[in-house]
Amino acid sequence: MAEPTGVARGLQDVVALESRICLIDGQQGRLIYEGYDIRDLAERSTFEEVAYLLWYGALPTRSQLDDLRQRFGQVRSLPEAMVRAVDAFPATAHPMDVLRTTVSALALFEPEETKPGSSSIGGAQRLTAVLPTILGQFHRRRAGLPPLKPRPEMSAAAYLLYALTDRAPTELETRAIDVALILHADHELNASTFAARVTASTLSDLYSAVTSAIGTLKGPLHGGANERVMELLDEIGTVDLAEAVIKQKLTKHERIMGFGHRVYKVEDPRATILREWSHRLGEAKGNLRYYELLRKVEEVVHREKGLYPNVDLYSGSVYALLGLPRDLFTPIFAASRIAGWTAHVLEEYQDLRLIRPTAHYVGPTDLTYIPIGQRS
Ligand code: COA
Repeated sequence: MAEPTGVARGLQDVVALESRICLIDGQQGRLIYEGYDIRDLAERSTFEEVAYLLWYGALPTRSQLDDLRQRFGQVRSLPEAMVRAVDAFPATAHPMDVLRTTVSALALFEPEETKPGSSSIGGAQRLTAVLPTILGQFHRRRAGLPPLKPRPEMSAAAYLLYALTDRAPTELETRAIDVALILHADHELNASTFAARVTASTLSDLYSAVTSAIGTLKGPLHGGANERVMELLDEIGTVDLAEAVIKQKLTKHERIMGFGHRVYKVEDPRATILREWSHRLGEAKGNLRYYELLRKVEEVVHREKGLYPNVDLYSGSVYALLGLPRDLFTPIFAASRIAGWTAHVLEEYQDLRLIRPTAHYVGPTDLTYIPIGQRS
């Protein structure tokens, strides 16, 4: 059916609201959080600092940062009932389903933290602190291991790696995951953030908004492309086969995961940074296989299609080099984007306007009701 005038499919190019949190400059390949360039933040800051920046709109002082780190450390534990609930989930469940359901259930135990309004900053901090615990708890439970004790002294990055790998990470590993967390913390009105804002705009609570966001991130068109990049590398096998495999896929009009972007018309700045980290980590681990394969894939895709890498091209290789299983890649995205989701929800509460677009009706209007006994 022809597209009626005025319908923006997928809300493409629709400016839905004003926000001061994040700017994507798709022409220049720039990403800005609250006025700060992502390249500076990735080079010089930490995830805690970035979370503070997104929530409060300014970088923290030393004592504000110390307070936030302390608060994260204090609120990493799950209530005993939730530990038992996670233990009761099927070991075969997808960790994104576990995350969604656990955040939703957690709201029953933490009504104060969930309240809509600017006071829900406490809930934002609580959820940011506890997501790694939920993931770690489930990941260990499916491996038949007992839960780990939350480590209040660890940074957010170190704690995430520790919760998922059961060992204290090195400085380089911690910095690598910290950079990945910084890079994924926000991205303007992406689908999951929009879902969170729609929920918040009804004056629903913070945990409901985050539950909506997790359910939205779970879809393969949003989270998950990095997992598929790793599958592509498995399929290619060795660098000398990359050209043939990619060309064959392009001939069949298949999409190459990790390339192209709705907004960036040049290289995604996050891909540039993660490429460096894939190399740095690969060298440190004595495994440059992923990096070399990805460089070759990049060369072929750019030559054949003129497409640039997006954030997902190199992130999977970084996570794999850190020893993280593939089905945790999207949950790690969530453990970072939680800062952005909650910042947007807080912004929505401050300037509330019910988000409720309209649809162009294309169905019939004059049908006659036929009693069920007379329908054929
Ligand atoms: N591989 C091969 N071709 C691609 C491509 C990719 N990854 N991304 C876009 N293209 C091609 C399309 O086939 C289309 O070609 P055509 O004009 O010859 O038909 C053209 O580029 C425009 O594609 P379109 O789907 O309209 O662009 P978009 O802006 O809507 O798509 C994405 C953005 C992200 C959905 C798309 O680039 C994609 O599917 N990428 C792979 C998945 C991925 O990496 N997702 C993570 C995003 S951060």
